[in-house]
Amino acid sequence: MASATLLYFVLTWSSVRVGKSVESLFNMKCQPAVGVIGQTTHISCSIDYFPISINTVVLTRSGEEKPCFTFQPYVNRVTGDSRFKVENGPSLQLHNTAISDEGEYWYLIRTSLGNEKVKFTISVTGKYSNPIITFVPEKIVNGEHADLYCSASGGYPAGTIHWFDRSNTNWTKSATLQSTQGNDGLFTLSSKLSFQKINRACAPYRCVVLNNKYEEEGENTFHLEIKGLFNMKCQPAVGVIGQTTHISCSIEYFTDPKPISINTVVLTRSGEEKPCFIFQPYVNRVTGDSRFEFKAENGPSLQLHNTVISDESKYTYFIQTNRGTDKVKFTISVTSKYSNPIITSMPEEVVDGEHADLYCNASGGYPAGTIHWFDQSNTNWTKSTTLQSTQGNDGLFTLSSKLSFQKINRACAPYRCVVLNNKYEEEGENTFHLERKDIPLHTPAGDSIVKNSIAPLVLIGSLIVGLLIVRLLKRSCDSQLKRVISLDRSVDFSKDPDDVEDEKALIEPI
Ligand SMILES: *[C@@H]1O[C@H](CO)[C@@H](O)[C@H](O)[C@H]1NC(C)=O
Ligand SMILES: *[C@@H]1O[C@H](CO)[C@@H](O)[C@H](O)[C@H]1NC(C)=O
Ligand SMILES: *[C@@H]1O[C@H](CO)[C@@H](O)[C@H](O)[C@H]1NC(C)=O
Repeated sequence: MASATLLYFVLTWSSVRVGKSVESLFNMKCQPAVGVIGQTTHISCSIDYFPISINTVVLTRSGEEKPCFTFQPYVNRVTGDSRFKVENGPSLQLHNTAISDEGEYWYLIRTSLGNEKVKFTISVTGKYSNPIITFVPEKIVNGEHADLYCSASGGYPAGTIHWFDRSNTNWTKSATLQSTQGNDGLFTLSSKLSFQKINRACAPYRCVVLNNKYEEEGENTFHLEIKGLFNMKCQPAVGVIGQTTHISCSIEYFTDPKPISINTVVLTRSGEEKPCFIFQPYVNRVTGDSRFEFKAENGPSLQLHNTVISDESKYTYFIQTNRGTDKVKFTISVTSKYSNPIITSMPEEVVDGEHADLYCNASGGYPAGTIHWFDQSNTNWTKSTTLQSTQGNDGLFTLSSKLSFQKINRACAPYRCVVLNNKYEEEGENTFHLERKDIPLHTPAGDSIVKNSIAPLVLIGSLIVGLLIVRLLKRSCDSQLKRVISLDRSVDFSKDPDDVEDEKALIEPI
């Protein structure tokens, strides 16, 4: 039925036509097609008489012999690139358009009224991303050197970037454009606008991305007047494990000191992309680590509650305000105080003149500290010690310092160990008293008789003989140390209760 109608048309049409070439009895036209990468390109063609019955469609790229696409409607047979489809008579569709589809094509159709061959082009475009403006140096100051960069990517074909200022003055001639084509064929544009002296009065600067037909595809602006309004500063913060660390920041105004209001704060650890803390005061919204706290009344200062060792890091702190943005870097360092040291001995019962090791241990500190040893006369014994510093799974350090004696000398006791943090500040100390284990046992009664009758004598004797003996003993303590010590200590000895005890110990047997 359909073919009968067609035949009727064909006959009518051909009888009307006069002067048409023998090749075909009709005309076909195709518009140049413009496709978008990844989308469907419509190749619009028309025949000046319709309907017509198409027997074969053959599409060949200009310069190639082998057709890239053929279609025979009656047998519904496709060969070649299946992304092509015949739709609406001679019009075509090209699905999932690629840059490589760009070119000239020969389009041949065979119909019941003869054959026709036309040429058309496919061109392909890709839209550029909205441009991003970056700048050097990090803080642009009015009247100083500055480079602005405007970049957009993912476009095709190569486009361009134009620059304008607040009064729409065209700055493009002062800019340099770099256009690079990726492996995917898409272009990245980057335009650099250099100022020897950037002028706030001309800001905002605007960059516009244009495609190859000079149609605008996107734009962005750079607000210099806002950048130059204020300057944020943060002090390095030192926190204590388990406590609240105060990160003290302040704002310095360049121009009129109208108070600003902070809209968003973003804190990012150095080396990480994802912020660790974001706060938007107006909607009271916190994302990230809730141990951080921002209080609007403290300016841009922050608090970090329940500080842990892993908080030690460099941070980048960005604030957005009603009058512009700023970004600073600061560090958090963490400390923990060492426990008061404990002194233990090996053997447990130390005997004067015999071998002994003294251990001074302190734990729970951070960062690694050290332990120093002194004797009664404040002589520094640290060089004769060995320090062991071990870090627990919790990151905290345990210090253990060992002071070894071949023959421990009671005359030098008490020995004192001092725990110092990594800044050599004293965090605690302890002393080791050498107990007398060799006192001969005597009755309490005899003791009191002795005390009553000869106490005054002993006392005077103590003062005279004791001082002499103490000097003697000190010399032996010194000789054991084998080092030179300043001589101002004899004054201290007489005041030390341990010295008095030593004196008594020496006098008692008399
Ligand atoms: C701006 O300057 C560029 C380069 O000289 C020029 O190509 C462009 O047409 C100008 N744009 C306008 C809007 O005047
Ligand atoms: C101190 O440290 C030493 C060596 O690590 C150890 O032998 C000793 O038991 C420790 N003393 C105490 C009281 O922890
Ligand atoms: C004790 O000696 C140590 C090690 O030689 C030294 O680092 C320290 O400063 C000395 N301490 C004092 C108070 O002299």
